[in-house]
Amino acid sequence: ATARTLEGKKVVITAGGTIERLDPVRYLTNDSSGKMGFALAETAARQGAEVTLISGRTAAEPAIPGIDIVHVESAEDMLGAVLARYETADIVIKSAAVADYRPVTRAANKIKKDGESLVLELERTTDILKTLGERKKQQILVGFAAETEQLEHYAMDKLRRKNCDLIVANDVTEPGAGFNVDTNVVRIFGEEGLIEQLPLMSKREVAGRILDQVAKRLKTREER
Ligand code: PMT
Repeated sequence: ATARTLEGKKVVITAGGTIERLDPVRYLTNDSSGKMGFALAETAARQGAEVTLISGRTAAEPAIPGIDIVHVESAEDMLGAVLARYETADIVIKSAAVADYRPVTRAANKIKKDGESLVLELERTTDILKTLGERKKQQILVGFAAETEQLEHYAMDKLRRKNCDLIVANDVTEPGAGFNVDTNVVRIFGEEGLIEQLPLMSKREVAGRILDQVAKRLKTREER
């Protein structure tokens, strides 16, 4: 049986890719399937947590009993949904792949083809994780880092700049890791540096290891 290490804890998890619309029928998105976030939500729920899963576009949607699922589209929608639940949350895990840029304008009608090329102007979206880091109180804040090079350097940089307690870094160029597969290869970083380097394992197992680290931190905090 699973240990109920997160009994009664309020956990907010984001999953999937955001959608940034260009016009009524076209959008920018990414390869996130939501599998990593769904595995986290399922595992946290089995450990007794009260889970809200804020989900962008996902490939498949496993039915997870007892989990409150909130569907969102854009990075701004996701920001709103997370902030609405942030103050009362004990743990927030940001496994979603949030767009860094969105089209400056969203056409009211379908964009017509005129001309041989089309230039899209994009602007930055709000960095949700950074916003959460700035407003952090009791929450344990866990970010992800999807990298293709210098994993440790970028992971530690994100941890500090975004005021996270943990960063889960995946090298998305590694076979069996990252977007749209059932497995992942991650390293977990904390303030002190590398905490755990995990081999290739299922996203469900990865979720268990991440939540073990979170539970450890909660425990030390409560003992203080
Ligand atoms: O969904 P799957 O197919 O299972 O794939 C899993 C995954 C590869 C998407 C997941 O493991 C992962 O790495 N998620 C984070 C992807 C990402 O956007 O990484 P990043 O390094 O660009 O962003 C760093 C962190 O900032 C992330 O926690 C992200 O959620 C957050 N962020 C990014 C941009 C933004 N505007 N707001 C944010 O909060």
